[in-house]
Amino acid sequence: MYPLRRNRRLRTTPALRALVREISITPDDFIVPIFVVEGKGKKEEINSMPGYYRYSLDTLKTEVKSLWDLGLKSVLLFVKVSEKLKDNGGTEAINTDGLMQRAIKTVKETCPDMVVMTDVALDPYSCFGHDGIVANGQIINDDTNAILAEMALSHARAGADVVAPSDMMDGRIFEMRTLLEDEGFVDTAIMSYSAKYASAFYGPFRDALDSAPVDAQDIPKDKKTYQMDPANRDEAIKETLMDIDEGADIVMVKPGLCYLDIVRDIKNTVNVPVAVYQVSGEYAMIKAASERGWLDHDAVMMEQVIAIKRAGASLIASYFAKDVVKLLH
Ligand code: PBG
Repeated sequence: MYPLRRNRRLRTTPALRALVREISITPDDFIVPIFVVEGKGKKEEINSMPGYYRYSLDTLKTEVKSLWDLGLKSVLLFVKVSEKLKDNGGTEAINTDGLMQRAIKTVKETCPDMVVMTDVALDPYSCFGHDGIVANGQIINDDTNAILAEMALSHARAGADVVAPSDMMDGRIFEMRTLLEDEGFVDTAIMSYSAKYASAFYGPFRDALDSAPVDAQDIPKDKKTYQMDPANRDEAIKETLMDIDEGADIVMVKPGLCYLDIVRDIKNTVNVPVAVYQVSGEYAMIKAASERGWLDHDAVMMEQVIAIKRAGASLIASYFAKDVVKLLH
């Protein structure tokens, strides 16, 4: 009771505030998403993601080394697939010599200790821009699972440490885990995008990979039949517990900032690491507002990653990872 308790006492100096701070941010918190393209010498800036790039395999090596030197120990790979290799069944996704498979090897050759995570979903490979196989205006769940499991296996064979299914099909974790076990990849971890919402914040990412759902007759215009309704909270727990039962090692909530209530619910419910994906739209908003001088870029960035960690994330996939770590140094 005041004045016996004066809460401001512990806020009086920077040193005292540091001593009583409940969480802190370190390079170990981050997963760095990386976009890979075919070609040589490429470092293409993404229009809607200023300061973020697509790398060809040669420039990827340089980038990965610089991440490692900064203390960043894990990357999450995404590939931009050429239009002519896209189809409805994800054929290119399981090409042993595909861009993803070569990217995995490139990172492992350059930096053997780097944790390599890979996105598992059909959208970058899909001529319709969907995470699964499309038929009769629908995304076909079980047929998609079969190809996703093959995709995960193909990534594991190429050297991925962690496969990260981002597709939101039902039962895909079980299919993947079963196939990985059968094929002897018992140590390949699965980081499941367990509570992934049908969010408008993925726009810039779809620009980066040219992977948005196509506008054509009989093709769903959005991903609402598989990604979650932003209005739902209890369902996030159901999704997450099912993924853990099916064999997920790490679960994820995505996007970040608008869904921190979900992060805390899940953190309080499960006993596996919880990851949060601070997505492309969250990155773009901070960049745009700070370019206009309306927000202090570094301060807002730090406040957001601190909020994500405080909510319960033990891993944060973020396009700000490098910026944050440079600021910490
Ligand atoms: C693909 C995938 C998406 C993201 C990660 N994996 C896009 C989507 O589901 O449409 C979004 C990441 C971001 O916006 O940064 N399934």
